[in-house]
Amino acid sequence: MKCIKCDKKAIISYPVRFCKEHFIEYYLNKLKETIEKWEMFNKDDKILVAVSGGKDSSSLAYALHLLGYEFEGLYINLEIPNYSNFCEEKVKELFKLINKKLNIIRVSDYGVKVERVRNRPRCSVCGTIKRYLMNRFAYENGFTVLATAHTMPDEVSFFFMNLRSGNLNAIVKQKPVLEGKGKFVKKVKPLIYFTEKENLTFSLINNLPVCRLECPYAEGNTQNVIKNKIYEIDKDFRGLFNQTIHFLEKINIEVKDEEVYECIKCGYPTSSKDIVCSFCKIKEYFSKNPS
Ligand code: AMP
Ligand code: FES
Ligand code: ZN
Ligand code: ZN
Repeated sequence: MKCIKCDKKAIISYPVRFCKEHFIEYYLNKLKETIEKWEMFNKDDKILVAVSGGKDSSSLAYALHLLGYEFEGLYINLEIPNYSNFCEEKVKELFKLINKKLNIIRVSDYGVKVERVRNRPRCSVCGTIKRYLMNRFAYENGFTVLATAHTMPDEVSFFFMNLRSGNLNAIVKQKPVLEGKGKFVKKVKPLIYFTEKENLTFSLINNLPVCRLECPYAEGNTQNVIKNKIYEIDKDFRGLFNQTIHFLEKINIEVKDEEVYECIKCGYPTSSKDIVCSFCKIKEYFSKNPS
């Protein structure tokens, strides 16, 4: 199988058929176009890239480096046994390679842990902790934009989850850019048009240090189950991922903005009626249930 641009052997066949050189060119061009089209950031922004050590965020950081962007990294050590410390080592290796500053924070320093809270599964607790700490770290350190490595399948599976729970507000907010407001830092998703296979290929051909361990708590995670089902449908009906992403972009419905308050414990925004944010509730739970 040949590259569609030259006579060399293709290293990837779907969604694009390219040789190594043309794949890198395609990947970087698509990333640059996405950033520019959505005005995600420019070279004057103070950019923070959230990196987990996985193939997606490692590829994002490396590609942004190749495109000449200045940024710092943030790794949140979730203190998950047999997982988090290993990922931390990979992220450190990557940032050494690209010679950029890496910030590392640990969940225990903030009084929380990735464990069940009442009937909330660990993955859901983890999601709240990550979102809160990424935003708080970015805000407290003067970053103007926070980039995450959410991919097309992440967004599409999230859309189906929101559809299932009838959360129209969340669907309307599923955009490549979420503008900042008050203590909410602007959030961008530069890999929104990329598949996991593209990121895996990019990480492999550039020999990037990547943590290949699966999170031990991921088993049965609803979003992963939904994602795998969509992959199956996409195999038979090509284009489901792509079409859904473009459909989400076009949704322009006026929804009543949720009332936002300042959490009485930490001062960060919350829409919770009791004016205590979800992060502080998790923290409170662990202070009362320390073991
Ligand atoms: P996830 O919530 O695991 O789907 O991850 C979504 C995005 O959050 C990733 O693409 C990363 O950019 C970021 N992220 C995930 N885990 C971490 C972590 N431990 N530290 C910093 N950023 C992370
Ligand atoms: Fe959060 Fe696995 S990374 S539960
Ligand atoms: Zn080629
Ligand atoms: Zn709070």
